[in-house]
Amino acid sequence: MKFKSDLKYSAVTPEATYLNRRALLGGLAGGAALGSGLLSAAPARAQDAPDFEIKGFDTTEAPNTFEEITSYNNFYEFGTGKEDPARNAHTLTTDPWAVEIDGLVDNPGSYDLADILSKVDIDERIYRFRCVEAWSMVIPWNGFELNQLLTLAGIQSSAKYVRFETLFRPEEMPGQKRALLDWPYVEGLRLDEAMHPLTLMATGLYGKELPNQNGAPLRLVVPWKYGFKSIKSIVKITLTDTQPLNTWKSINAREYGFYSNVNPEVSHPRWTQSSERRIGGGLFAKRLETVKFNGYEEQVGDLYKGLDLTKNY
Ligand code: MTE
Repeated sequence: MKFKSDLKYSAVTPEATYLNRRALLGGLAGGAALGSGLLSAAPARAQDAPDFEIKGFDTTEAPNTFEEITSYNNFYEFGTGKEDPARNAHTLTTDPWAVEIDGLVDNPGSYDLADILSKVDIDERIYRFRCVEAWSMVIPWNGFELNQLLTLAGIQSSAKYVRFETLFRPEEMPGQKRALLDWPYVEGLRLDEAMHPLTLMATGLYGKELPNQNGAPLRLVVPWKYGFKSIKSIVKITLTDTQPLNTWKSINAREYGFYSNVNPEVSHPRWTQSSERRIGGGLFAKRLETVKFNGYEEQVGDLYKGLDLTKNY
């Protein structure tokens, strides 16, 4: 496994130090808030932002804690409650793990994960993560750019889209015994979205192995799109020339589209997308304004030139 970044978040701020610092600040803020009524939890989190140089795409916002990121999840294969994945996902066997890559590629086949990891650069990226349900987090992921894996597979010139599939193993994923969704979970990206350097295949967070509830051992992270695009526990990747039908669109195309770019201007039919609740912000934290493309417009805006984002939601 290779690491690209010289300066890793986990190396600068070990998680224990980070958590202690946060507990201390949280405690102070809590006390002051009671005393003066002026301080909310939000400024404490801002002060707690890592004070080191971050590179490239990373956000300067304070990351959520490991505990928050791993205890409030959406992973319907393990239940629909936010606490269900943390409670149930330990049943998933993640080693050995292989990813089948097929379709419009020069080198189709079964790729062993360990083999993939020996050929890619593992990086650290601190990304905002915005769920379509209007909650958000800031997550320090470890992973590699998807474009590295697709390049290994050899993209053919006729390929226009990438389709992803989650593992189907009902004996280990109890949610798959119920007809909640059309299993396995499927997602898709346009090829240029998949090749974008922001698009990550996550293998860990906070410098640790990816916990099962977060999509171990390999999940997609597309930070400018709603969280449901970031498909977990991937076993199959298909290069295709037709737009894949993603799971949530297949369930309700009026509410969930293919593109699913974070967009405060296009409301979900049942709630506004103009603001969001940052997990861990505390009971009285103000909602944050949602930013177009989740704040990554500078990096990805050009991908959508000429596309009507109210129709292509
Ligand atoms: N992938 C699979 N296979 N199954 C799921 O239910 N939920 C999606 C996405 N990927 C989901 C999935 C949704 S709705 C969100 S918001 C994110 O995973 C949540 O990721 P997290 O639990 O790591 O925060």
